[in-house]
Amino acid sequence: MKHKSIVPTHVERTMRNGDFIVSKTNTKGQLTYCNRIFIEFSGYTEAQLLGQQHNIVRHLSMPRSVFHLLWSRIQNGEGIFAYVKNMSADAQLLLGLCH
Ligand SMILES: Cc1cc2nc3c(=O)[nH]c(=O)nc-3n(C[C@H](O)[C@H](O)[C@H](O)COP(=O)(O)O)c2cc1C
Repeated sequence: MKHKSIVPTHVERTMRNGDFIVSKTNTKGQLTYCNRIFIEFSGYTEAQLLGQQHNIVRHLSMPRSVFHLLWSRIQNGEGIFAYVKNMSADAQLLLGLCH
């Protein structure tokens, strides 16, 4: 996973009014769609993102249990609202996650 070799800068990136991050994954957790804002904040290109595991943007300070809960809710057909701190290729990023 590429991001694990990146040392976080600890610089939080601020989103603008109206910015919305949208991404889709398949059941294997691979990214199948990222909107323009996701791509911008990730610091990767669309070609680098599509087909990769969604954990390419995982921040190491995010507890694994959050993602276990996320996946089990989705597998049960339920929704979840959570805040997730992500890490871009060059900085860390705070965003809301709503599924
Ligand atoms: C729809 C959807 C969106 C997700 N969004 C993120 C995300 O923004 N950041 C993230 O780190 N993981 C996200 N995940 C969870 C990842 O698939 C993965 O479980 C998580 O990054 C932990 O990966 P790891 O246990 O392999 O390290 C998302 C999963 C789904 C199904």
